[in-house]
Amino acid sequence: MNFQLTEEHLAVQAAAREFAQTELLPGVIERDEHQKFPAEQIKKMGELGFMGMMVDPKYGGGGMDAVSYVLAMEEISKIDASASVVMSVNNSLVCWGLETFGTEEQKQKYLTRLATGEIIGAFCLSEPEAGSDATSQRTTAEDKGDYYLLNGTKNWITNGSTASVYLVIAQTDVEKGHRGINALIVERDMEGFAIGPKENKLGIRGSDTHSLMFTDVKVPKENRIGDDGFGFKFAMATLAGGRIGIASQALGIASGAYELAVKYAKERKAFGVEIAKHQAIQFKLADMATNIEAARLLCLQAAYDKDTHADYGKSGAMAKLFASKVAMETTVEAVQVHGGYGFVKEYHVERLMRDAKITQIYEGTSEIQKIVISRELLK
Ligand code: CAA
Repeated sequence: MNFQLTEEHLAVQAAAREFAQTELLPGVIERDEHQKFPAEQIKKMGELGFMGMMVDPKYGGGGMDAVSYVLAMEEISKIDASASVVMSVNNSLVCWGLETFGTEEQKQKYLTRLATGEIIGAFCLSEPEAGSDATSQRTTAEDKGDYYLLNGTKNWITNGSTASVYLVIAQTDVEKGHRGINALIVERDMEGFAIGPKENKLGIRGSDTHSLMFTDVKVPKENRIGDDGFGFKFAMATLAGGRIGIASQALGIASGAYELAVKYAKERKAFGVEIAKHQAIQFKLADMATNIEAARLLCLQAAYDKDTHADYGKSGAMAKLFASKVAMETTVEAVQVHGGYGFVKEYHVERLMRDAKITQIYEGTSEIQKIVISRELLK
């Protein structure tokens, strides 16, 4: 067993850390407050290769492994979880889904631009009445011969108004249940496609989350991903990898808050000494560091499973379940360490606390992760 990161891993980690500090930190509070999408920063992330990290270089990607992806996601998320959710969705849901299941034509047409960050993508599964119960799709994709007629509404879509390519899950044959669902590539300018208002969110406020409306959108048959009826399995398989991305995001939120808490504890004085000298604070930091290390190991285990072509459904779900809990607990404690300063925006920890919550909800709630894990255990 080797826990040593390679030279390449360390270089990716250092590059992501440097980028986060120099490009994401300035303005992060303002973007959060005004719900401003980090457009320039995402463009630069594309130029640096962070938007298609694991994609084969022949399609414009970085050809890196999932371990590198986890390391980069952690560093970016320490500073700006709004930027890292854009990165996670583009890398693990959109690029991975297209590279793994798309046709050569689809890869040439869409993946090559998504992997370089020239354009970004969105993954559209959730609906007003289909969140955790993802098989209950109300959006319909009626088979009309050489095209599908798409009708319905999708909710809480990350990159809702900034994406150019949308992977939309819809029901073609109700009789067949989840085996009658298809995944379609929808382009932003297709007629009948409309973007609803932006959600005003608790956290990750810089990311743009919208509902999307499809009214008689004609999607050519060649835009279907996989065979007829493959859409639900496409969504499940893609989300299994997506959960590694969100787990690493949660890890980054936790470690970002922890680093701020350590720094503050060494500076702030109370009762004549730095608060880091008080056992009450030391014990909090010890718990945070231990939990974060355990979350990191689960994230890296899931990434390693993916890299070695082992089954990563369970390890990815465990990583997300645990890391998101650690993110929530650590950020709450980081605010506590900061006292009154933690409650104001300038100190960053209140934002990280608000950002942490979504990691227990999207790409499968913590309860869904427990379903995925326990089904594997009891197989
Ligand atoms: N890979 C491939 N196929 C899979 C799979 C996987 N990981 N997991 C399940 N499947 C297949 C099953 O084999 C089954 O197919 P067959 O019947 O042909 O064998 C089919 O999918 C249905 O599976 P289940 O019977 O297990 O389905 P279920 O109704 O019990 O639901 C569930 C399972 C795990 C609860 C699933 O509905 C689920 O994951 N729900 C959560 C949805 C979710 O994560 N939403 C997130 C939205 S996306 C998002 O948040 C992105 C963003 O913007 C940040």
